[in-house]
Amino acid sequence: MKLWGDYKHPVLPCQALMMYEGLMNTQKKLIAGNWKMNGNLADAKALAEALGNPSNADVCICPPYVHLGVVATAKSQGIALGAQDCSLKDNGAFTGDISAPMLKEMGCSYVILGHSERRSYHAESSTQVAEKAKKAHAAGLVTIICVGETEEERVSGIQNQVVTTQLAKSIPDTANAQNLVIAYEPVWAIGTGKTATLDDIKDMHAVIREFLKEKLDNSSAIRILYGGSVKADNAKEILAAPNVDGALVGGASLKADQFLTIIDAA
Ligand code: 13P
Repeated sequence: MKLWGDYKHPVLPCQALMMYEGLMNTQKKLIAGNWKMNGNLADAKALAEALGNPSNADVCICPPYVHLGVVATAKSQGIALGAQDCSLKDNGAFTGDISAPMLKEMGCSYVILGHSERRSYHAESSTQVAEKAKKAHAAGLVTIICVGETEEERVSGIQNQVVTTQLAKSIPDTANAQNLVIAYEPVWAIGTGKTATLDDIKDMHAVIREFLKEKLDNSSAIRILYGGSVKADNAKEILAAPNVDGALVGGASLKADQFLTIIDAA
């Protein structure tokens, strides 16, 4: 167990108590940029270079597959590379798919899985997400598994049940505290400019934390990210909320100045 004096930054008594009780993740925050299907090769290179070498947070950028090579070269050592999806197979006749070992070879250390855009536009099920995650873990990748409810599900009050069911089915038995990150992304907050309220975020992150505690050893070390219209001007308060261990950023990760402000806020 760490003692007060072991922490580099000043620790408030309430934080010390949370650390002692294992309620607070003491790792750096993880700020992940999901570039989705945006930009061209020149944009990808310029954006990766413009981010420099941030050290106050763990930073990961997830460009489109075909830009991974150029970003791997252009980014600094201090920024990790991630992909936006992977196949549930390692190789073979699967036209258009990219496997986890291929991503590892390209220099990826993270892969986003089960993003709501994949779940809705490609009809991906949680069972498939778990299959993909198994392959990713076997290849040595850290999986960022996304969960989140639709607006109708929230209005009906079933958001906790929806998210815990997604978690139960999407996390494979190969997951552990080192290779798993969860991203809570309420579908209605993605790309809409609508952000969940701080209470919504706190409540859902507590539900996810509790779920992880019941299922996995050393679960307090698993980072839970919030995603959905995280911007330069709201990042600070979101990142300060309990059980928010980082952010998965879409639109604002495409602008170096905005993404750097979010990283600074961590
Ligand atoms: P926005 O930040 O554009 O809302 O996207 C969030 C997201 O989907 C990240 O994966």
